[in-house]
This record gives sequence, structure tokens and C-alpha cells, in this order.
Amino acid sequence: MKGPQLLILGAGGLGGWVLELAARDMRFHWIVLADVNEEYGEKKVLNARTGAAYHGRYPRIDFEQIDLLKEQQTAETINRLQPEVIINCTTLLSWWVTKQVPPETLEKLEKVGFGPWLPMHLALTRRLMKAVKQADYRGSVINGSFPDAVNPVLGKLDLAPLCGLGNFDLLYPAIKLEVGRRLGINGANVDVIMVMHHFHTSFFRKHAEGPPPYYLKINVGGEDISSKWNRNQLLYEASKNRLEGAEINPQVASSALQIVQAILENSGKLIHVPGPGGLPGGYPTLIFRDKAEISLPGELSLAGAVKMNEEAGKRDGIEKIEEDGRVVFTEQAAETMKDNLGYDCPVLDPDEDFERARELIGLFKKIAR
Ligand SMILES: NC(=O)c1ccc[n+]([C@@H]2O[C@H](COP(=O)([O-])OP(=O)(O)OC[C@H]3O[C@@H](n4cnc5c(N)ncnc54)[C@H](O)[C@@H]3O)[C@@H](O)[C@H]2O)c1
Repeated sequence: MKGPQLLILGAGGLGGWVLELAARDMRFHWIVLADVNEEYGEKKVLNARTGAAYHGRYPRIDFEQIDLLKEQQTAETINRLQPEVIINCTTLLSWWVTKQVPPETLEKLEKVGFGPWLPMHLALTRRLMKAVKQADYRGSVINGSFPDAVNPVLGKLDLAPLCGLGNFDLLYPAIKLEVGRRLGINGANVDVIMVMHHFHTSFFRKHAEGPPPYYLKINVGGEDISSKWNRNQLLYEASKNRLEGAEINPQVASSALQIVQAILENSGKLIHVPGPGGLPGGYPTLIFRDKAEISLPGELSLAGAVKMNEEAGKRDGIEKIEEDGRVVFTEQAAETMKDNLGYDCPVLDPDEDFERARELIGLFKKIAR
């Protein structure tokens, strides 16, 4: 008998929503939720089962306790389950929690980007991918945990997952809807192709002018209308009213499940995914069962697209990722983290990600509100 279609790692805000939506979706008949926190995870499973029942859905949903810090145990569980798709929604500290600092500190931290918080997201994902490699696993892994930066680090270590989810993909429906609103047509009739980075997603929530380079093409009825409006302004208008914090999770979970579907159906569907094959930032990508094929418009080379995303990565605090996976933070990001949190880490060695994460959590807790 085949294994479950989906193993969701992480029963928190995002993983919980992925489970709730998958449980109600008739295409899923067997889902496994896994987390280090067994009591909470079991309750999340019960919650999803009972919610789905209102929709006449009674899929099999199991819970497994997995501690991603224990690679051998993780490898054994993955081997035993052989899920078709694994989706990683774990972290040591979620992105929105890092915003719970005094406003004057937050302002300074936000100016240097999200990059310095990388160890929170890398530590568990790197161990997961090591376990996946160790296991005789034949499915695909999607990483939700800061994929724009985590996936390229893992790529350098030969541990890249298939792709990421969310982030710039959150702008995809937002642009379609905004263009539809402006033209008085249904957003479904708007075609959008873009190359962007996690940084753009947070940038356009608050600003219109001065973004790092990106690619955006908009077509309606076969006509290229990309230059019809100021594109920065369009992205700002499409983003500014988005909800903050954990409230975005239903949308992120939908972004995740469209990728899961494309993998299960081996459909080659074009999806905007961050970190495909270990690349930095996000690209339009054809998703198959076991491969993610970047699909760029003819006028844009892969090297050009990667360069664009590397530039945007700098605004997110990441100067470069070395060939051995070490992450060099921008001088400004490293100094701001040191001055405001006492966290001194100009370069992150992936082998020290967990220790660095623990150190940063300790320092963060001293000023957290
Ligand atoms: N790509 C996107 O668009 C997007 C959007 C939202 C969240 N995220 C990311 O998804 C991840 C999860 O976010 P969240 O808000 O759900 O976080 P959360 O804190 O709500 O949940 C994280 C879960 O990880 C579990 N966990 C911690 N240590 C573990 C371990 N050793 N083994 C197994 N499980 C462990 C926790 O118990 C918790 O249930 C984060 O990296 C977050 O930044 C990405």
C-alpha cells in the first residue's frame, strides 16, 4: 500500500492551516501531521478531523511525534511512512514573533531585512534534509521555512528541497486581483509572470518607491499591459492592505497546497515558487512529481534572474552565500543586530545554525514585549 499523500512537519500557525485545508479537500485521503509537541499536535489533528466532517470529509489523519533535532529518528520515520510529499512548516521562532520588540528597535531591525534571523529557519530544515538524504525517500520536499535563503544554503550543501512556498507567490493573486479591479474585469483573466524575492513581499507592504530590481509581466487577453501603470505603485496598492502576522497563514497554506497538488498530479503546472532547486529568491517554475523546472520568459536569462534575486537578497540582509554554504550578512545588518540585540554574527556557518539560533532567541527574549 502506498504511503500518505502528505506529511506536514510543524503543527503551528502555518502547518495547522495546511492541515485544515487539506483535510477539507476531497483530493486528500491520507495526511500525517508531525511535530515535536505531541499533545498540541494530537489536538490539531482532532480539530482538523472534526472541522472536515462538516464538509462530509473523513480523511485518514495521523499524528507522529518527530523531533527534527534527532536526524536518525526523523530518517526512520520518513522511511517508514514514505509520504508522497513532505512539507516543512517548522521553525525555532516564527517570522512575525521577531516583530515583538519595542517599536524603535523594530524600525531599525526592519531596515536591514529578515536575513539575520536565518538560523531560526535553517537549523531544523537542514536537519530535515539531512534525514531525508539518509532515508531511502522517494518523494519530494517543499520547504516553507524562509525558502528564499534557506534553500540556497541547502543547495550549496547538496541538500536542496524541491522548492519553497509562499513569500513572493503571495503577491501573485494580489496583483491579479488589483489589475482586475483597475480594469473592471475578473482577476482570473489576468496573467502574471514574475521574478521576485522574499524582500519584495515585505517591501511593497509599506513602500512604493526604491525597490531592488524585479521582473513583472502582466498580460490580459494576449496583450502585454505591463507598462500601463507605474508597476511599483501597482505592487504597493496590491500589498498595502494585506493582513499582518499569523493572519496570512490561510493564504500561505493555499500557496503550499497548489504545489502539493502539482506534485501529486505530476502536472508541470506553472507556479511561482521561492527557492526552486536551491536558487535564491523566487521564479516561475513548472512543478512535476520530482522536479522543479524554472520557466523564464525568453527575454530574461536564468543568470539575469538569479542576479536580480541576489541583489534583493542584499536588501534582506544577505550579502552572499559562499560555495561552502556560509552566509555573509551585509555589514549594515550585522551591525544593527549587534547594536540592538547584542548578537554578533557577521558570517553564519551552517554547522553552527542551532547554537546561533539558541543564542539569538536568548537575546531576543531579553527585549521582547
Ligand atoms: N513562505 C511563507 O510565505 C511563510 C509564511 C508564513 C510562515 N512561514 C514560515 O513557516 C515556518 C512556520 O511558521 P509558523 O508561524 O507556523 O511557526 P510556529 O511557531 O507557529 O510553528 C512552528 C512549529 O515547529 C515546531 N517545532 C519546533 N521545534 C521542532 C522540532 N525540533 N521538531 C519538530 N517540530 C518542531 C513547533 O512545535 C511548532 O509547532 C516559519 O519558518 C515561518 O517563517 C513562511
